[in-house]
Amino acid sequence: MKILSVVGARPQFVKLAPIHRAAVAAGVEHVIVHTGQHYDPMLSDVFFDDLGIAAPDVHLGVGSGSHGVQTGAMLGALDAVFDEHRPDWVLVYGDTNSTVAAALSAVKMHIPVAHLEAGLRSFNRRMPEEHNRVLTDHAADLLLAPTEVAVGHLTDEGLAARTELVGDVMTDVLLEVRDRVAGAPSALVAELGLDEGGYYLATIHRAENTDDPARLAEIAAALGSLDKPVILLAHPRVVARAAAQGVALTQGALIAHAPLAYPELIAAALSSAGVVTDSGGLQKEAFLLRVPCTTIRTETEWVETVQLGWNVLAGTAEEIAAGVSRGRPDDTDAAPYGDGRAAERVIAVLDAARANGPVAAP
Ligand code: UD1
Repeated sequence: MKILSVVGARPQFVKLAPIHRAAVAAGVEHVIVHTGQHYDPMLSDVFFDDLGIAAPDVHLGVGSGSHGVQTGAMLGALDAVFDEHRPDWVLVYGDTNSTVAAALSAVKMHIPVAHLEAGLRSFNRRMPEEHNRVLTDHAADLLLAPTEVAVGHLTDEGLAARTELVGDVMTDVLLEVRDRVAGAPSALVAELGLDEGGYYLATIHRAENTDDPARLAEIAAALGSLDKPVILLAHPRVVARAAAQGVALTQGALIAHAPLAYPELIAAALSSAGVVTDSGGLQKEAFLLRVPCTTIRTETEWVETVQLGWNVLAGTAEEIAAGVSRGRPDDTDAAPYGDGRAAERVIAVLDAARANGPVAAP
């Protein structure tokens, strides 16, 4: 079997790591195509190095741009790549512009497409990622769902016949890296002279939080007035928007810091008093690490984290302050994201679906 993975943005490299390992272990030929959506070394190369992923076979070098320009450049470049490699499966990941471009290119070339992390929904049509997910799910031949809730959404949309529940591959990596860094001191704690458990770890990068100057200023001020140092791991997008809008990302308790490599991020989250974020991945990682999370969004795709009490949604400064200072949630041994072996299941499902011919249309 030959699988061609298309990735381009930071969270996709994390998901690629366990898939690549499982593919190699199963003797599957795995071609990696990097669109170049993310190109800063700390958003890209460092993940390949730290998570043991082979260098991309193809790099499209697309870079940044408006949604149309970026997605269109990927579409234009991918046809020739798929034509050259003619894989059994094109595997696309998550909800970025790289995801929808690869799904659209492959489906029009009649190459079977599988969508990893299918079925997540925020039901917020202002989010570019929501369109990327919905369009990709409806284009793809095989939908690899991370959770029962995601299976439910796909069923509601008439896609049950193409859906397989495999678990969450980010959990595979997280559990392994957690065990690797547990007990070792966090480099961030040492660098900034922080106390263990004496700071919050924050990330903000979504358009709805960064692109409106008043909203970004409100969030920065809210984080700056919290009761412990808040280390903001600043994505280039928030750095660029803050500079353009004259918003200080270091003010009061808030301290801007460059993004971290994945193992250092996990170590820093583990040592923190709590996470404050608008990232989907980090909400789930905080839950798996049993670190309380406050999410600066109006909804989440990872509803299990909220239902189990480890995540709260917060919009205003008051809600953010209340979120980070709430009591420790009740312990739970619930495992809605699987057992850490989702990637093996993905490879097995792809192999079985290939052997059994085209996946049934609904
Ligand atoms: C993208 C994904 C988002 C994901 C996030 C993870 C889409 C629509 N969004 O958002 O779902 O959560 O990745 O980080 O695909 N930039 C750099 N260097 C880089 C990459 C980006 O400086 O290596 C800056 C540029 O100013 C760029 C901006 O960040 O215009 C936004 O980058 P882009 O890739 O368009 O989206 P993200 O915000 O990273």
